[in-house]
Amino acid sequence: MRFPSEPFKIKVVEPIRRTTREERERLLQEAGYNLFQVPAESVYVDLLTDSGTSAMSDDQWAGMMLGDESYAGSKNYYHFEEVARSIFGYTHVIPTHQGRMAENLLFSTVVKPGMCVPNNIHFDTTRANIEHQHAEALDLVIKEAYDPHCDIPFKGNMDLVRLEETINRVGQAQIPLAMLTITNNSGGGQPVSMENIRRTRSLLNRYGIPLFFDACRFAENCFFIHEREPGYAETSILDIARELFSYGDGCTMSAKKDGLVNIGGFLSLNHDQWAQDITNMLILVEGFPTYGGLAGRDLEAMARGLREVLDEDYLRFRIGQVRYLGELLDAAGVPILKPIGGHAVYLNAKEFLPHVRRDEYPGQALVVALYREYGIRGVEIGTVMFGKTDSASGRTTYPELEMVRLAIPRRVYTNMQIAYVAESLIELYRHRDRIGGLTLTYEAPVLRHFTARFQELPPHRNTG
Ligand SMILES: Cc1ncc(COP(=O)(O)O)c(C=O)c1O
Repeated sequence: MRFPSEPFKIKVVEPIRRTTREERERLLQEAGYNLFQVPAESVYVDLLTDSGTSAMSDDQWAGMMLGDESYAGSKNYYHFEEVARSIFGYTHVIPTHQGRMAENLLFSTVVKPGMCVPNNIHFDTTRANIEHQHAEALDLVIKEAYDPHCDIPFKGNMDLVRLEETINRVGQAQIPLAMLTITNNSGGGQPVSMENIRRTRSLLNRYGIPLFFDACRFAENCFFIHEREPGYAETSILDIARELFSYGDGCTMSAKKDGLVNIGGFLSLNHDQWAQDITNMLILVEGFPTYGGLAGRDLEAMARGLREVLDEDYLRFRIGQVRYLGELLDAAGVPILKPIGGHAVYLNAKEFLPHVRRDEYPGQALVVALYREYGIRGVEIGTVMFGKTDSASGRTTYPELEMVRLAIPRRVYTNMQIAYVAESLIELYRHRDRIGGLTLTYEAPVLRHFTARFQELPPHRNTG
């Protein structure tokens, strides 16, 4: 089946409220046209993120009731540790409350000022945590990743030529580790192939540089390998994951994605000294090593989620639902990034709103219009998130892609709601010339997209 139906039935429902256009208009003004500032209960279909928004299974909820809330040595930690080791295979398993804490602990331990950490594309929190150490976060994905029309199976791959050039330019001693983000969120949720991972590993081996995975969406990446990479059609998702992680020295993980939980994360690695230093820091900032900022019940839900996410039927539905939305939009001519990613459909805002200039934030303008007209919330992944304005010259550097991400929460929305999103966007695209740009009125020094404020430029203004 091209779009497999849901491999679950619904046991608990959460009502969602419809709002009027006037209400949404007022909320937008109060929020400074930043959708992060709009209350969730005023959103009809919330595609802001797939992070921490999953519906847990009855088995996970049952596990929550078995939470052992002992300060030290909770049985849920041991269960979680056993599951994590059986998939990822690394010696040390260090729980954290979410992914960015795992990043913070890793980078504050191993990255020194002036160093550099290559990745295919850093997610904003990994970039911010590396830059916080006064080091450089380098994006070295293959150049095809920046062409929204280039439809190749593994668009998240590392550019090995540029990786080797970088090592030779900065020197191996300045690179404490290299990373691969699977799937590559900031590049459209695109997977990395096993072959590219293997080759990255052998290149790094020649220079003695460790490889870490940003593993948030590892199961989705493994499913793409299963589906697209020759030689893996008969291999189970678990075995693909085991092979993939065997090429690394560790991983950071936000379990809010492929851990199928609402909160949780971890860091797992082989290096004993790093693990010891990180654990000491963990005790200072998160908690005792057998809970690391989580309750015992959260650890249990995470252990069960990590097993469930490897189920092939679940993944086929999951990837299929995202593809369903993407193909409905594509068939109607709405510009999207190709190929359709694992957790989200990415709208190409530059092509959706060609009349809105880049310095008028077309991605953000599209996000605002989608909410105003239909109560749907997406997120800008473009100039607001990644652009940088030099305070001295006032000059802005723009990211290559200007996108709006429609991230699909796992097991949350029915295909009917997904069809509503598609119909809304198709209608919005027909009336795109009515959408105007925005001007930025406030920005924080780091991760500005969360709190930035905007004003609208008149829709009738010809901004082209
Ligand atoms: C690729 C990637 N890395 C890291 C993170 C950070 O995880 P968390 O939000 O749990 O801190 C995210 C979150 O969206 C992500 O997508």
